[in-house]
Amino acid sequence: MKNFEVKTKICFGEHALDRLMQLKYQKITVIADPFVVSSGMIRQVTDRLAQAQIRYTVFSDVVPDPPLEKVIAGVGEVLRERPECIVAIGGGSAIDLSKAVRKFACEIEPSFSPWLIAIPTTSGTGSEVTAFAVISDPEKSMKYPLAEESMIPDEAILDEELVKSVPASITADTGMDVLTHAIEAYVSINNNEFSAALAEKSVEICGQFLLRSYDDNNDTHARRKMHLASCLAGLAFNSASLGLNHGMAHQLGATFHIPHGRANAILLPHIIEYNAEIDMHSRSRASYAPCVRKYCNMARILGLSNLNEVTTIRALVSYVEFMSKEMSIPLSVSACGGISEGEYMSKIEFMAEAALNDTCTATNPRVPTKADVMELYRKIW
Ligand SMILES: NC(=O)c1ccc[n+]([C@@H]2O[C@H](COP(=O)([O-])OP(=O)(O)OC[C@H]3O[C@@H](n4cnc5c(N)ncnc54)[C@H](O)[C@@H]3O)[C@@H](O)[C@H]2O)c1
Ligand SMILES: [Fe+2]
Repeated sequence: MKNFEVKTKICFGEHALDRLMQLKYQKITVIADPFVVSSGMIRQVTDRLAQAQIRYTVFSDVVPDPPLEKVIAGVGEVLRERPECIVAIGGGSAIDLSKAVRKFACEIEPSFSPWLIAIPTTSGTGSEVTAFAVISDPEKSMKYPLAEESMIPDEAILDEELVKSVPASITADTGMDVLTHAIEAYVSINNNEFSAALAEKSVEICGQFLLRSYDDNNDTHARRKMHLASCLAGLAFNSASLGLNHGMAHQLGATFHIPHGRANAILLPHIIEYNAEIDMHSRSRASYAPCVRKYCNMARILGLSNLNEVTTIRALVSYVEFMSKEMSIPLSVSACGGISEGEYMSKIEFMAEAALNDTCTATNPRVPTKADVMELYRKIW
């Protein structure tokens, strides 16, 4: 038996943030990305809470790829303050941290069960609607994707005004994260009609609006569309999960601190070739791996339908590389700079083992061996 459920109430469109003024709580803890505080964006939340006469405290000890230590600090804060609601505002890192904080705080004190509202300020992770939170352990160079239904935010507020300040390079990285979520969910072995519909719409929007969004921060229409695409892809992979692309990207983030979306973008062309078993030397044949049809559907949605399966997959791979080039995303790990070849190669076996154990890898359409994953890590150098 399969089931599909959207647990998160999603507020979007003009004045979506006004939802905060309808809340009936006495006390809220806002967990915010430090940029949200330093830029003054936080006032968009706190002014509304003040207007609704809700007391609030702000916790902003958030860093990218949140480590366990910051989760522990956040748990301490919310157990001290005991808010009825947590409002998480920031990129995937702030939202993931808040989800983990609520989970652990409720486990420590079962009588504590705050509502969680997520307000994303990047268009990338879809974390505002997923059961996943990625927590890192810098000492072990590991990233752990926690996955638990109880971590799904109760509400999400999507307001494109909050993403207009995102710098171009982060728009690029996070946008490619959206594209990867949608494509990975679509070819996942847990793909279903509901997740597929969400992934298809998300990819269609990426094709139409990612470059526009990258080119012009103030293109409100494109920003709104990409903010929705990010959420749609989040809903898709919350149902279908992801694949080897994310399993491998997590290790590049944990070991070499390559931003999450950039790591996905570098891997994506190679993972499509690997899963489809089609590369530049392939010729058309009588039958293909089942995921080839799905990749071809995605290519069709992007307007890349081509002569046959091989040329269509080649077109999809080229399209992903084209998108990275247009947005100045490096196509390889070496092009990221700051990482020596010796150091990288020495970590490949460790990263391959961790990628095989990553929960995302379990739903990849092709079952990878350690040798396959090591070869893929070598290819992206
Ligand atoms: N939970 C999930 O389902 C899920 C899915 C994918 C990725 N992730 C995780 O999410 C994290 C990445 O999240 P992210 O890509 O959103 O980046 P992020 O949250 O780490 O933020 C990246 C940078 O952008 C800044 N920033 C955020 N909003 C901004 C704005 N509006 N204007 C200017 N700067 C802004 C932040 O201060 C930070 O410096 C990683 O840890 C990744 O593993 C989680
Ligand atoms: Fe991701």
